[in-house]
Amino acid sequence: MEAIFYRNGKETPEPVKAELSGTIPSWLQGTLLRNGPGLFSIGESSYNHWFDGMALIHSFTFKDGEVYYRSKFLRSGTYKKNTAANRIVVTEFGTLAYPEPSKNIFSKAFTYLINTIPDFTDNNIINIIRYGEDYYASSEINYINQINPSSLDTIGRSNYRDYIALNLATAHPHYDDEGNTYNMGTAIMALTGPKYVIFRVPSIASDKENKRPALRKVEHICSIPFHSTLYPSYFHSFGMTENYIIFVEQALKLDIIRLTTAYIKGVSWGKCLKYDKDDITLFHVINRRTGKVAGTKFYTDAFVMFHHINAYEEDGHVVFDLITYEDNSLYDMFYLKNMRQDAETFDKSSKVFSLPVCQRFVIPIDVDLKVSDCKGGVFIFSSLSATLLLFLHWGFVCLAFVGNKKLNFQKVYTLISHILVLKQIAKVDTITRTHIEWMEDECYPSEPVFVASPGAVDEDDGVILSSVISLNPKKTPFLLVLDAKTFKEIARASVNTTVHMDLHGLFIHQ
Ligand SMILES: [Fe+2]
Repeated sequence: MEAIFYRNGKETPEPVKAELSGTIPSWLQGTLLRNGPGLFSIGESSYNHWFDGMALIHSFTFKDGEVYYRSKFLRSGTYKKNTAANRIVVTEFGTLAYPEPSKNIFSKAFTYLINTIPDFTDNNIINIIRYGEDYYASSEINYINQINPSSLDTIGRSNYRDYIALNLATAHPHYDDEGNTYNMGTAIMALTGPKYVIFRVPSIASDKENKRPALRKVEHICSIPFHSTLYPSYFHSFGMTENYIIFVEQALKLDIIRLTTAYIKGVSWGKCLKYDKDDITLFHVINRRTGKVAGTKFYTDAFVMFHHINAYEEDGHVVFDLITYEDNSLYDMFYLKNMRQDAETFDKSSKVFSLPVCQRFVIPIDVDLKVSDCKGGVFIFSSLSATLLLFLHWGFVCLAFVGNKKLNFQKVYTLISHILVLKQIAKVDTITRTHIEWMEDECYPSEPVFVASPGAVDEDDGVILSSVISLNPKKTPFLLVLDAKTFKEIARASVNTTVHMDLHGLFIHQ
């Protein structure tokens, strides 16, 4: 693997003006905010897993045809504690840390009491979430850190539990046409019992004058009990259509007992996930306006999934596409000891990891189910069918996002690769099952972000933005702008500074 993925990143705190080739569309005004791990060792101590790295926030700002780049480490409580100690003192997903390594088992037991479920790290590395007019760096824990989207300064930490009873929440919310934010989480320690919780934050709830966050206006949509009481499903994302929320309760589960004793036993949180291949995958469909959960439950065989691709309604059915895996080995790929192997060894060892498969599921919502339609326990629908969309030997890596959701749902933009090394971005047509790619020698693009053009008619009227880094030190990093329809490059903005590989983000229109 290439060191550019796991070497320590550097900040570019002041905006750097990019050198342009091509022309940025005049309508493209705003900021692309990105997030991801960027610091993998502190002092003499190093993290074990790529998802443990300290969050580095990036921005590409488009203003009157010019592009400006800047980046800053998230000044989370975790970052401050680690840098003050000049070593890792806060436990992350794959790295267990003790504040004082010389402590004996009794001292560790005391530390355990204050480091169980309520005290996760606040190193929010996954995504940027908007609640109202407030922007947060987010991961999958109860803490989120508010940032200033212009300066990238960290404003301060918020705790979901100050507003709604949650221990974990996703970093992949959805936004409706009015700008309201929908998200869901897991309440392990709720007084009313463990459950999944779906909630909404209104778009106009921020009170900037009095510095009151939109989250204070959070609205509870519904709660769903766990399928297995002590083993809540792990979920990284969920689906949303015009009227429904789709929650896939998968067989990859959090072992609560193991989690609550992890610290004292010296087990990292990453080892508290267990995959039960003999269990089922349960689909929940929830009316997002009424909070009513559909009474009829559909299920299928066990699989592991992280990202929903898209979801929509058609002829009384909910249709949703997922990227699925045979097991949980994807996370293992990101252990730094695996990533540090040379490319050939990594290529060989990565063959044992489960390949991603893009699958479509169709669930009847407003359809009369007749016994006569049932053949051998399976309902056959004449109007729609669930089909395996794509199985590519080199596979999709974990990221896939759709075009203009207001229009059709045929085009998907994604990162693809032979192995973990992400070298191509692709536009996939889910109807024709064809795709076109962009790639360039020695270049590694980030997750493609679609921005619709004003007055878009077709779903792919707009541009694709991707931050690209290169192995070649003579090649400066650049922000790539593709025509989403043709996938041809229309501009690139090269920045003469360091840019690090990231995970997710969003575009803020000006
Ligand atoms: Fe994700």
